[in-house]
Amino acid sequence: MAEKDLHLETRMIHSGYSPKEHKGSLVPPLFQTSTFVFDNAAQGGRRFAGEEDGYIYTRLGNPTIKALEDRIAELEGGEAALAFSSGMAAVSAILFTLAKSGGHILCSQGVYGCTYGLLKLMEENFGIAHSFSPMETPEQVKESIRDTTCCVFIETPINPTMKLVDLKMVADIAKEKGIPVVVDNTFSSPYLQNPLALGCDVSLHSATKYICGHGDVIAGVAAGKAEFMNKVAMSAQKDIGGVISPFDAWLLLRGIKTLAVRMDRHCENAKQIFSYLNEHPKVSSIHYPGDPAHPDFHICEKQMKKPGGLISFTVEGTKETAQAFMDELRLIQIAVSLGDAETLVQHPATMTHSGVSPEDRDKMGITDTLIRLSVGLEAWEDIRDDLDQAFAKI
Ligand SMILES: Cc1ncc(COP(=O)(O)O)c(C=O)c1O
Repeated sequence: MAEKDLHLETRMIHSGYSPKEHKGSLVPPLFQTSTFVFDNAAQGGRRFAGEEDGYIYTRLGNPTIKALEDRIAELEGGEAALAFSSGMAAVSAILFTLAKSGGHILCSQGVYGCTYGLLKLMEENFGIAHSFSPMETPEQVKESIRDTTCCVFIETPINPTMKLVDLKMVADIAKEKGIPVVVDNTFSSPYLQNPLALGCDVSLHSATKYICGHGDVIAGVAAGKAEFMNKVAMSAQKDIGGVISPFDAWLLLRGIKTLAVRMDRHCENAKQIFSYLNEHPKVSSIHYPGDPAHPDFHICEKQMKKPGGLISFTVEGTKETAQAFMDELRLIQIAVSLGDAETLVQHPATMTHSGVSPEDRDKMGITDTLIRLSVGLEAWEDIRDDLDQAFAKI
């Protein structure tokens, strides 16, 4: 059966690896090696000259990492993929490959705090400008594109405000102008959203999150056209060097096998927790793409398989009330990651987005009482009960 005929859930388990080619090992072997031995000096020369296929040195490629990259490419519907040492290594490698001094990066109205920090660094040190746009209408997108725009960078759902961007709408406009569109697909995972199928050029992830799923790896991945990914591999990735370790690649291959079942459970739990929070008198606003009252609900219906496992909400009161609420939680852990088995809460204004200027935080909708909840895989009733007892104490 051809791989493309298989369902996504099946490809998560089988694609990119054939036991027959690895002495029958069911699980991809871990090639925990920094370098590869050549048969002779001439062969080493041929490999460096690109005249012969084969591994050289793990920063340039490794069979375990390659199995992961092939699986990601398959799941994202890209011709090729690359794995990195962190989500930020993926973001920076892609942006440094696309951006030029004097150029401009157009961003969604809200990006992860360290992406914001990277954009600032690129502006201050290399003269690469950036600006943010709500991207709510085609007019807004067209008006925000400059003659110097070298790339559009979108997060959707946006961390942590859960606003959505219509990827096809932006990709159609950018394509007319020949501008590549990069999507940070971390919040959805390849199971819930496929930006490449909507006309975007690169889909990248903090693989630390849902792709890993177990909170034990820091990693990034990016997928797109083979020609572009090869350019990234041979420049920003090879020369800046943010490559993943073979062991982390091996752990991700393990995590991906359960991505579909985990995501279904995250989504189901989040739906239940949304219903509980939505009715709670101490919750003053709630942001969840599966909420029919969410302004971008129609985009969620159109481009996401399900609304995901993240909910942001504000509590009645002040920053101190929000922090006191978090401190009262017993089962739910205070931690800044997401997509793990454990339910996690964080306070974006003082944690993940504390590096964003107060004015930009305001524009992004990150208030002092906003709490982000990554709904885990526990029984949803236990998550609800923990929230309930914490609310009772504030
Ligand atoms: C949306 C998003 N993109 C990128 C990153 C960066 O990923 P990493 O921490 O793996 O470098 C994060 C991390 O939280 C994130 O939430």
